[in-house]
Amino acid sequence: MGYATSSAMKVICFLMFVLVVTTSSQSQNTRCPFDLLYHLGDGVFDNGNAVANMQHGSRLPAANIPYGNTHPGKPTGRWSDGLLDIDYGAQGLGFQEITAYLSENSSSANAIMFAVARSPVLDRSFFTSRGIIIPSYTVSLSVQMSWFKKYLNTICSTPTDRANKLSNALFLFGDVEANDITYSLIQRKSVQEVRSYIPHVTRAQINAAREVIKMGATRIILPGNAPMGCYPFILTELSSTNLADYDDMGCLKSVNDLIKLKNDDLQQAIDGLRNEFPNTFIMYADFYNSEILLIRKNDKVALQTCCGIGGKYNYDNKRFCGSPGVPICSNPNQYFFWDGIHLTQEANNRLSTALQEATLATLNCTVS
Ligand SMILES: *[C@@H]1O[C@H](CO)[C@@H](O)[C@H](O)[C@H]1NC(C)=O
Ligand SMILES: *[C@@H]1O[C@H](CO)[C@@H](O)[C@H](O)[C@H]1NC(C)=O
Repeated sequence: MGYATSSAMKVICFLMFVLVVTTSSQSQNTRCPFDLLYHLGDGVFDNGNAVANMQHGSRLPAANIPYGNTHPGKPTGRWSDGLLDIDYGAQGLGFQEITAYLSENSSSANAIMFAVARSPVLDRSFFTSRGIIIPSYTVSLSVQMSWFKKYLNTICSTPTDRANKLSNALFLFGDVEANDITYSLIQRKSVQEVRSYIPHVTRAQINAAREVIKMGATRIILPGNAPMGCYPFILTELSSTNLADYDDMGCLKSVNDLIKLKNDDLQQAIDGLRNEFPNTFIMYADFYNSEILLIRKNDKVALQTCCGIGGKYNYDNKRFCGSPGVPICSNPNQYFFWDGIHLTQEANNRLSTALQEATLATLNCTVS
């Protein structure tokens, strides 16, 4: 959990980020049959909200060097050395950039990010009642939904107005559930116990999707969870002396099996939602297998942290990326993992490319 639960979070000022995503050479001319993009989720997508959300956000790792080191050369509130999967994704869908909800003028943007780093799907009370601690700056899916509704009320005056707006949008919900699972596992809940949380997580995701559909949304993507059993922070926190606990890639089998179970549960629930709303486009995005393929290709340093120190995975939660004396690798582009929890810009770029290939045509977008 590291910085997340540590007392190091006594902080000073409130930072508003001016987010400038430079449109790079890979920008393409895409036309999609929608003009708006809304995204809820966690630190994989957060482009400044966590840093802005906390009274003391400027002390979060993402507000400080070496975050943003590769691009644009200074911190932006993104939890990476550069751009995120969704920065590339938004550009791939024809948007110039995606704006953090808590940044200035976000209500006039066409693409808005509501995700907050390290946030779970389930509400804080679910965790506290089970003795699980989650960071104070996180914003669960239901609260992100309330932000979204508040935003809608500022731009729409009637339900019809709202429905028209939403029918012109693409919604992305996550992935956001990695934190529900990993907070619990790291705080020594058994895999069996965490398995019992899955129906709660799935239900909350589906309920959020149902709510925006009822308000008028017609296009929704619900991504599955990443292979958390391959992530350096999990490999470090849950390390085992039994070789049989690891798969051929060196990932923790029990954790990845749990994630696969969770993803299967979500896909079944998505089928149910499609039956309920046959005229709504609802897609499952396969982060799990996309990331497994990329990690496999990344052989040598696949499970190593670029910005980190110590242990088998170059990760130590007490010396998190950005702490004094913690080095960064000389070649971030060759690494998949940036700080042990989040990905490098290069990994994000590749992941986005992999996911877009499957998505653009399905969404009836044309690329010229
Ligand atoms: C927000 O809008 C105001 C008024 O149009 C403008 O002066 C200001 O520069 C904008 N801020 C950002 C961060 O774009
Ligand atoms: C794409 O176009 C086809 C044919 O017009 C239509 O049936 C389908 O619903 C569209 N998909 C989306 C996501 O809009």
